[in-house]
Amino acid sequence: MNLGGKADGKPLRVSTIAIDGPAASGKSTVGAWLAKSLGYLYFDTGVMYRAITWAALKRGMHIADEEAVTRLAEEVRIVVSRPTEDDGRQYTVLADGEDITWDIRKAEVDWAVSPVSAYPGVRKALTAQQRRIGQKGCVVMVGRDIGTVVMPEAHLKIYLTASAEERARRRHVEQIARGQESDYDEVLRDMKRRDRIDSRRETAPLRVAADAIVVDSTSMSIDSVLAHIKGLILDRFKMLADAGGPLVECQQGL
Ligand code: CDP
Repeated sequence: MNLGGKADGKPLRVSTIAIDGPAASGKSTVGAWLAKSLGYLYFDTGVMYRAITWAALKRGMHIADEEAVTRLAEEVRIVVSRPTEDDGRQYTVLADGEDITWDIRKAEVDWAVSPVSAYPGVRKALTAQQRRIGQKGCVVMVGRDIGTVVMPEAHLKIYLTASAEERARRRHVEQIARGQESDYDEVLRDMKRRDRIDSRRETAPLRVAADAIVVDSTSMSIDSVLAHIKGLILDRFKMLADAGGPLVECQQGL
């Protein structure tokens, strides 16, 4: 994508983009595409919450044991890197050196991740790491609280949503394609439960930031969603350029 503008020879950028929304609303497809088009870092924060959840389950912890799960979140070393295998993954996720890229997509993680994510101590540990990445700029960050808590200063905030039925259908198709067992009714029920916990928790609940642009993709194809979002980026770029800024250098090594 050509964002074109220059001021005093320096690139003018919409440098921090926050994408939030409920489960399976297309955030990762849109986020990854956008990051690739712009040459930015794509960072999916859901991966971190999933990694802590997986590590807790693997150690046989009770998910209701807030103290133990929080301690774990402070200790486990999560590394998200470029793909190390050519097996359809968007990135590789390591927890204390172990490759858990596919494990974090299992049904037991789906089931336990929202209760884990509701613990304030877990959020505190992960939010600090996410902020550090966000502050370097040139990033598309995806999650539930990016525009509201992690990067409230983001240059562009998108809240991506779709009907629960459409989101469940997409997740169901995705799981089948991956060779996972999947029952549509179960996917729908579990997703609604997760959305409920994510929206009602006290710390950093899922909600639309006051300055976010809502995109409802229920009856849109992926191509039209991407075209629409490209338009939003170009508009925002023009708005920022007209206002005289921002001038941002990438520090993400891209
Ligand atoms: O891919 P999907 O939309 O199903 O979920 P995800 O983005 O991988 O996030 C999994 C879970 O992590 C969510 O249901 C939230 O409970 C939690 N999460 C969060 O609390 N805050 C974030 N910034 C990202 C994810």
